[in-house]
Amino acid sequence: MLQAGTARPIGRCICPEFVQYRAMAKETLDPADWKAFRSQSHRMLDDMLDYLEQIREHPVWQPIPDETRTRFHEPLPQKPTDLADVHASFMRDILPFAVGNTHPGFMGWVHGGGTPVGMLAEMLAAGLNANLGGRDQIPVEVERQITRWMAGLFGFPDSASGLFVTGTSIATVISLLVARTATLGNDARRHGIGEHGARLTAYAATTAHGCIARALDLTGIGSDALRLVPVDARHRIDGHALRKAIAADRSRGLTPFFVAGTAGTVDTGAIDDLDMVADIAHEAGLWFHVDGALGALAMLSADIAPRLAGIERADAIAFDFHKWGQVPYDAGFILIRDGEQHRAAFASENSYLRRETRGLAGGSPWPCDFGPDLSRGFRALKTWFTLKTYGATGIGDAISRTCGLADYMRQRIEREPALELLAPVGLNIVCYRYRCKASDRINARIAIALQESGIAAPSTTMIDGQLAIRAAIVNHRTGRRDIDALIDATLDIGKQLADDR
Ligand SMILES: Cc1ncc(COP(=O)(O)O)c(C=O)c1O
Repeated sequence: MLQAGTARPIGRCICPEFVQYRAMAKETLDPADWKAFRSQSHRMLDDMLDYLEQIREHPVWQPIPDETRTRFHEPLPQKPTDLADVHASFMRDILPFAVGNTHPGFMGWVHGGGTPVGMLAEMLAAGLNANLGGRDQIPVEVERQITRWMAGLFGFPDSASGLFVTGTSIATVISLLVARTATLGNDARRHGIGEHGARLTAYAATTAHGCIARALDLTGIGSDALRLVPVDARHRIDGHALRKAIAADRSRGLTPFFVAGTAGTVDTGAIDDLDMVADIAHEAGLWFHVDGALGALAMLSADIAPRLAGIERADAIAFDFHKWGQVPYDAGFILIRDGEQHRAAFASENSYLRRETRGLAGGSPWPCDFGPDLSRGFRALKTWFTLKTYGATGIGDAISRTCGLADYMRQRIEREPALELLAPVGLNIVCYRYRCKASDRINARIAIALQESGIAAPSTTMIDGQLAIRAAIVNHRTGRRDIDALIDATLDIGKQLADDR
C-alpha cells in the first residue's frame, strides 16, 4: 500500500494491473496499435497547427455547399471507420466551414480567437478526462487557483468563490439564484419563489444583454420582473432613472432585489458607471451584478482597467475567458463576493456524494456545491495554461491592442465621406454604416456580402432604430490590415449595392 504523501511516478509502473490491462487492450476502445495511432495523432496535430499558422490563407467564412450539409444527414454509423478516414472527413467537411473566429478578419458578435496554447491544453484536459464536480484532485485546485487569481484581479476578498461554467448566460443564472436565495431565504430552494418571490424586481439598462431577462425567465422569477432603464448619450445606464424605477416599484409594494451593470455592452461596448450603480445598489439594498462577459477582463489592461472602477464593489461578476481572454470555447466564469452565500444557494446532501476528511471523497466543499452541474469538465486547464503562458500582461496587452484598432477604425470611418459612425467608440466595438438610401436594407446586404466575400465577417445590430454594421474586435490576431480590408470592402460593396438599388 502507498503511504500517504508518497507520489507514484506515472509511466514507469510495471505493476500487475498494468500487465493485465495490456493483455486486454483489444477488448477496450484504446488503439490496438499504439504506434500507428501515435503517427495519426501527430498528423492531426500538425494539420491543426498548419491551419492556425496559415489562417490568413483561408476565407474568414464561406457558405456551406449543399453536398457538405447533406453528409451530416447520414444515419448513425454501426460499423467502425478508420480514424484516418474520420479525420479526412473533418478536414474536408468541418474545418473549412466553421464560423471563422480564429481568423483575424472575424469581427462579428463577440468571439475570441483562441490560441494554439489553449488548443494544446484542451487536448491535455481531454486526455486526463477529469470530472471536476468534486473529490480531492489537483484539477479542482487549478480551478480554485484561478478563482483566487480572479478574486485578486477584481479586488474581491479571499472568501470569494468562483466557478467555471459554459458562459456568461449561465453565470448570470447562478448569480441570480444566489441573489434570490439571499433575498428570500433558503426556503425558496424547497418551496419555490412563492408570493414574496412574485414581487421581486430587477434592473438593467436598455442596452443590457438579453441573458439577464433570460436568467429571470429560467429562474422562475419571470422576465417581466426586469425593468429596462434608459441610457445616457454614451449608452450608459442613467442613474437618475434607475433610482426612480427602484423607488416607484418599492412604493407599489414590490421588492427590488437585483441590479446589473454592464462592463462592455454587446452593441457598442459602453461601460456603465459601475461606481454609481454600486452606490445605488448599496443604498437600496440590492444585489449588484456585473455583466462582464465582454469587458471584465479589461482589468488586465493597464490603460482600460481604471474605466471599470466600481467593479470591485460587485456582489457577483459574470464573465468569459473565451472572449477577450482568448481561451478556446467554452470558458465562462462566475465570481461571487460571499462564498458562503454562494454555497448556501446550491449545496445539497446526497448519500452518494458523502464527504470525508481523507481519501478521494475529501477536499470539500466541492465545485458541485456552487452550481447546478455535477459532471464538469476541466475548463480551468486551458485557462490556466493561457494565463501562465502569456501572463496577465500578455492578455492585457492584446486587449489594449484591440481597443487601439477600434480607434484606428473610427478614424478611418470619420475620414470616409461614404461612411458614418452610429455610436461612440469607447472600447473595441465599432458600429457604422454606408450612407445611402434604404440604408437598413442596403447595409444588411453589405454585411452579408462582406461575410460571403471571405474578407471580413462583421455582424449587424440596431442603434437608435438604425441598422449598423458592427465590428467587435476581440481576436488577438486582428491587425490594421484587417481593419483596412473591412473598410475597403465595405466601400466597394456599398457602392455596388447602392448603385444597383
Ligand atoms: C455583454 C454580454 N453579456 C452576456 C453575453 C452572453 O455570454 P455567453 O455567450 O458567454 O453566454 C454576451 C455575449 O456576447 C455579451 O456580450
